[in-house]
Amino acid sequence: MKKSMPEPSKISPTAKMVAYWRQFSDVPFAQDVARLVRADEVFEDFLKHTSTSSEHTAWFAPMIEARYKSMVQAIRQKNIKQVLELASGVSLRGLAMTMDPEMIYVETDLPGMSEEKIAVVRQIREQQNIPERSNLFFREVNVLERKQMEEAVEPFFESRPIAVIHEGLFQYLSLEEKKIAATHIHLILKRFGGVWMTPDLNTVEDIEQRWQHSDAMKQLTDSIKTVTGRDFRKSAFQSEAHIQEFFEALGFELQAFPQIAPGLKLTSVEKLNLPQETVSSYAAHLKIWSLTVKSNN
Ligand SMILES: C[S@@+](CC[C@H](N)C(=O)[O-])C[C@H]1O[C@@H](n2cnc3c(N)ncnc32)[C@H](O)[C@@H]1O
Repeated sequence: MKKSMPEPSKISPTAKMVAYWRQFSDVPFAQDVARLVRADEVFEDFLKHTSTSSEHTAWFAPMIEARYKSMVQAIRQKNIKQVLELASGVSLRGLAMTMDPEMIYVETDLPGMSEEKIAVVRQIREQQNIPERSNLFFREVNVLERKQMEEAVEPFFESRPIAVIHEGLFQYLSLEEKKIAATHIHLILKRFGGVWMTPDLNTVEDIEQRWQHSDAMKQLTDSIKTVTGRDFRKSAFQSEAHIQEFFEALGFELQAFPQIAPGLKLTSVEKLNLPQETVSSYAAHLKIWSLTVKSNN
């Protein structure tokens, strides 16, 4: 019998670890969120399983900032005004992007995380006098559950395209789980039209390159494995050809773009006094994948 994967809710604390690094950037609400969810404490808990220090993991901050900003830039470039964000954790891109009254944004995550996010958003709105947004929705969604995915898109207009996005989700899913989630996204995109965009499609080589770049990152990946039971390397694609084959077989067309597009400024580099050249040379490899439904599917 096939061994089942560990409970996905074990992955949820990683959202607060990401929030820890995002606080060193100018991403909207990042400092408020880090404070409210006590991201420093969660980060320290992950660090406890390693022999590294927070200083050695600092270069991860611009990577998290880059992926957040690259997704915002990608949505704007496509001029899509309906966004379904999967596994959004405690990132408040929905609150930031719904300043545009034409935008309809649905943020989703697993039940516990989603509940916590709603509470954080409420507190920030109260503290900063931000009125409730009728164009911002929160839904509890496990991406492996088709019904929950279908219900999440109810706020959207059927006549308009949507962007399905996520950052920091697919790394945690096994290949079998990636296939299930991709099938659900395919169904949704077929109905609305639009595009699926994510920085999350990693190859084994990407991961090994990251580990060569920083031993601290290898240690943190091991710590994530201990806490979540998920193994990034084991769940990664073998190569870019494997990525292409995998998603083409599921009825998608794929394209890859550099994450760091001209004009994208990473403020955490200066704030943390990181060597700009090292960050730039590493960041040059980072990609966003853009997937659309093949015309005959
Ligand atoms: C590393 S965090 C990323 C959060 C957010 N995207 C960010 O960048 O801050 C991973 C997120 O995936 C969520 N997650 C894990 N498995 C999931 C699943 N099967 N369905 C939906 N969300 C899931 C977790 O709850 C967690 O919030």
